[in-house]
Amino acid sequence: MLWIEADDPVRADDARRLAARLGGTLVTPGTRLAHGRVRGATTPPVQETHDGDVILRLTASGPVLRSGAQPERGGYRPDHAALAARPPGRRSALGRALGDHRDLVVDATAGLGEDTVLLAALAPLVIAIERSPLGAYMIECALAALAAGTDRARAIARRIDLRTGDARTILPTLDPAPDVIYLDPMFEPRRRASALAPLPLRLLRAVVGDDPDAADLLAIARRTARRRVVVKRRGRSPVIDAGGHGDGTGTDASSRGTPGDSAGACAGDTAAGGASRVDARSTVLPDHVIRGTLLRYDVYLIRH
Ligand SMILES: C[S@@+](CC[C@H](N)C(=O)[O-])C[C@H]1O[C@@H](n2cnc3c(N)ncnc32)[C@H](O)[C@@H]1O
Repeated sequence: MLWIEADDPVRADDARRLAARLGGTLVTPGTRLAHGRVRGATTPPVQETHDGDVILRLTASGPVLRSGAQPERGGYRPDHAALAARPPGRRSALGRALGDHRDLVVDATAGLGEDTVLLAALAPLVIAIERSPLGAYMIECALAALAAGTDRARAIARRIDLRTGDARTILPTLDPAPDVIYLDPMFEPRRRASALAPLPLRLLRAVVGDDPDAADLLAIARRTARRRVVVKRRGRSPVIDAGGHGDGTGTDASSRGTPGDSAGACAGDTAAGGASRVDARSTVLPDHVIRGTLLRYDVYLIRH
């Protein structure tokens, strides 16, 4: 369940409108949220939250996301300005993954918009697509905050064009076609509690769930992009298995020779041949794998 509350009566109307827009439950003014069963009368009255609930709190300094399991804890307060202040360089893992031709980049799984900001530091125009109304709202707020910030933050905000909807429908309609399409579908849940995904992604996941159609999206992205598709993955997670969603270009592992193209090859990058434990007979493998500290970027070069 998504709860929406305002920290001040001034924002109560905004909270009401947002609850309708996002399909959330408005926290009744004058009540307090508490986790689990509360016995007896309390002052102020309590509304019970549960594990898996997410709370969106509207504050004077922007939205804050909290876990329903710990409604009193600090939560996630987006700070896209801090990301804009420390942009990745062209030789960073992300910069190399994007390649040299990146006039138009699409972030097709924009989520909370953090990667969008990094992409906009590296490309003159980024179309950010997000289908979750909560994610799209958080990105709108991030863009507003950037637009009110430093010169650099404002410049980054101007480069981002937010579209709300399903990228599988939007991508084929883009004209001109993007040079690069960037995908960051939800990772599989981590098994070890010591290796939890970052809080913002856990909160987003509790609202939007998994992305079971990631393979379909990858296939559509490969048909749409002019130069390359970049997929962000956690270090050892398998490549996205687009085996059943091939695009007929004949670049799956069974029909392709040694992966690699000098135009996209980077020092320290790993050719994709050994990148995956999935069935290489049906899975489209990336041409390059660029490793960051905890993450990797699977790069699919386009040859149409
Ligand atoms: C792991 S999150 C992305 C996080 C993002 N990279 C960031 O920096 O905040 C994945 C997001 O992709 C979105 N998504 C997945 N498939 C999509 C699709 N076909 N169209 C639009 N959004 C999609 C989900 O709603 C979710 O918000």
